[in-house]
Amino acid sequence: MTIPVDLVIAGSTVRVLVDPYRNTAPEVPTLGPSAGEYPCYDAAAYAEMTDDEERNRRFRVALARLVAGRTVLDIGTGADLLWARESVRYGARQVFAMEAMQESFRRAGRWLAEPDAAERISLLRGVSTELDISPRAQVCVAEIIGSLAGAEGAAAVLTDARRRHLTADAVVVPHRCVTLAAPVAFRRLFADAPAAFAADSLGYLKTIFEWHGAPFDVRLRISHPARAALLGAGQVVEVLDLNGHLPLEQRRSVRLVIDRPGLVDGVLTWLRLWCLPDGEPLDALATTCNWASVYFPLFDTEQPVEAGDLLDLTVTSTLGEDGIHPDYHLDAVLHTANAGARSASHSSPYRGGGFRQHSVHRHLFP
Ligand SMILES: C[S@@+](CC[C@H](N)C(=O)[O-])C[C@H]1O[C@@H](n2cnc3c(N)ncnc32)[C@H](O)[C@@H]1O
Repeated sequence: MTIPVDLVIAGSTVRVLVDPYRNTAPEVPTLGPSAGEYPCYDAAAYAEMTDDEERNRRFRVALARLVAGRTVLDIGTGADLLWARESVRYGARQVFAMEAMQESFRRAGRWLAEPDAAERISLLRGVSTELDISPRAQVCVAEIIGSLAGAEGAAAVLTDARRRHLTADAVVVPHRCVTLAAPVAFRRLFADAPAAFAADSLGYLKTIFEWHGAPFDVRLRISHPARAALLGAGQVVEVLDLNGHLPLEQRRSVRLVIDRPGLVDGVLTWLRLWCLPDGEPLDALATTCNWASVYFPLFDTEQPVEAGDLLDLTVTSTLGEDGIHPDYHLDAVLHTANAGARSASHSSPYRGGGFRQHSVHRHLFP
């Protein structure tokens, strides 16, 4: 069952399709806006990350190896001052912790009452690209990684950090993140449930639209998508080597091979992350964790495909209007034995762009 719910954004009404019985819960496919790239972090979002043991144990292994006796920079420490406190626990000499959001910064300050925290941690309010520290840090922990790896601006933020905040030989955690993409049809990602926003995602949708001042075609974040909807293996469409070559903009072309009959109207993307070069990777599709997957629409209608058909996909990321968060653009050509070649494209800017441009967005915002 779905119901239309009206949100009032800057004096105008925006109608949203909601599944009132569906909230984000383990193992249930649920839809919300991709929110990590926007200033929408609330207590529930931080709790989901602080309780994410799959993620946290990988970060802890890296900090345990790297931080003892060193100066550490924690970019985007969040309301729980998490990696700054863990760095102290693993013997860091001095820690700078930066947090952009005022309320998160205020809540992070409460953790300074813990033993050793106030002596070793300097908590700074603001975005890392506008703050200064001295001395430079030898280790940087930056959990500003999105479900779409680069969406939170990690490339621009880390490029600035290397230039102004870090020593020449500084090590960054995580070490490497990639985004994979596979062919899917949107409605199939929800198995037998309706394709509608989860009731508990409405608050994030409202915050994002109010932040922008108007509705726009938000990126669609799907937790626990039905795996049967993926009609082929994932291929890497975005690479962030945080201790290597880290371009601010990138373009990657891949050929996705359809491996069984079904329907395709877009691609599902998800994160794979390594905290250390030799560490166990975290694959957000294979693991229950705080990261989800992001669906990008391409074709206006579902295209029938057979095993052996091909989807040629190019994903381009360019710096958005704030010079930090990327805009994404997808170009695709679907080659099918039955219907020949069909092309499609989709633009997903960080901010703005069109509203109700694609049939999936017209369905979700009726
Ligand atoms: C994904 S959360 C991670 C929170 C915490 N570090 C953790 O791992 O649980 C990202 C946090 O970084 C903050 N943030 C993002 N970019 C930032 C930047 N360039 N400088 C300072 N804070 C930033 C956000 O406000 C948010 O609190």
